[in-house]
Amino acid sequence: MVDNNKNTRSVRPADGLRGTIHLPADKSIAQRTALFAGIAEGTSRIEGYPSSADPQSALSCLRQLGIQIETDEDVLIIHGKGIRGFSPPSEPIDCGNSGTTLRLLSGLLAGQNFRSTLIGDESLSSRPMGRILDPLRQMNARVDSVEGHAPLTVGPASGPLSAIEYTLPVASAQVKSCVLLAGLYADSVTTVIETLPSRDHTERMLGLDTGIQHGKRLVHIRGGMKVEPRNWTIPSDFSAASFFIVAACITPGSVLKMPNVGLNPTRTGLLEVLRAMGARIEIENQREISSEPVGDITVYASQLASVTVTKDIIPSLIDEIPILCVAAIQATGRTEIRGAGELRHKETDRIDAMVKGLGALGAKVEEFEDGLAIEGPQQLHGGHVSAFDDHRIAMSMAISALSASDPVHISGADSVAVSFPEFFRTLDSIRPDPN
Ligand code: S3P
Repeated sequence: MVDNNKNTRSVRPADGLRGTIHLPADKSIAQRTALFAGIAEGTSRIEGYPSSADPQSALSCLRQLGIQIETDEDVLIIHGKGIRGFSPPSEPIDCGNSGTTLRLLSGLLAGQNFRSTLIGDESLSSRPMGRILDPLRQMNARVDSVEGHAPLTVGPASGPLSAIEYTLPVASAQVKSCVLLAGLYADSVTTVIETLPSRDHTERMLGLDTGIQHGKRLVHIRGGMKVEPRNWTIPSDFSAASFFIVAACITPGSVLKMPNVGLNPTRTGLLEVLRAMGARIEIENQREISSEPVGDITVYASQLASVTVTKDIIPSLIDEIPILCVAAIQATGRTEIRGAGELRHKETDRIDAMVKGLGALGAKVEEFEDGLAIEGPQQLHGGHVSAFDDHRIAMSMAISALSASDPVHISGADSVAVSFPEFFRTLDSIRPDPN
């Protein structure tokens, strides 16, 4: 049965995926280029800014704060006004589905001399915000929430914020970045300490001082630091690539090429894990673009074996765990993923969503509070699954359909627009039997 509902997509099994895939620009980096351009002293140009919903939310928030943004063909031009150049918004600032926009912007707004309200969609409004409210309060910022959730009210600051030394209780680049950005408005140097390294785009892009002490990573920011305008080129999104990396690995006869993909080591834990499982993944033409490592990836169909994934590597593959579960279904042996409790606080509870989704296709998945275990290989059957309105669940279930015995119908599939609006078109383009 093919469901005609616009928001339901049906994906048929396939063999032999082939081609070259051009992936969208990195969502995490894109949102940072926009926010950092907004507080820079002068005009920044961003090449290839993505049309997906989260990066667009960052732009509309900046516009609400009085930042002028233009486009010139493929280039976005942002006229930054310095760290104190935002205008008070006349309405609540809408961050849509984007945790990165909401949490990073909260740091910037904590230091302004006006009050803002930050809102988001239903999913964002159910995600935990205590993790940014606690350090912001330690900095003497005025912040309020609805029982630890958005809407948040932030500011006004009556004077400089207090610089703090803050050890992250959870490995989170959003929390780290929020504290660092609030640190721009502090009376001296703010330091964030992390036990497990989370993605380091903020520190790379702002050129912050970093160090290692007693095995922990330190990042420093000086209050009042000026942000220079820049010309940014955004690499393709490794997290978007991950769906096609796994698709090529598990689909017999596949060879897929993905040029120009961001390979920041704080993001590419999936490559390490898949290679340990026996995947053949080649990387060529390694180079640096706008302070970020980039390369061309080629992936070949591979016989996968199970692996154990533990807490230390989780931050570097946190967004790739749903698609790693799809690889585990095809791998021989028991794959166990632990220390991944943070997955329960994403756009949806991604542990629950994958257990339910793969379960609906006949898979046996063992669920833990902090992860899951899958004994492979398992033959999936077709059926109906929900994306739980989460882009990464929608794309993971679509890739799982490639090795199912019958089509899989995914409701809530439009959620791919959050990070990868062209996902289904891209998937069709590499099938030997398009349409
Ligand atoms: C992001 C950090 C991660 C990640 C999210 C993007 C960022 O979230 O899951 O998709 O851009 O900093 P956490 O910081 O909550 O782990």
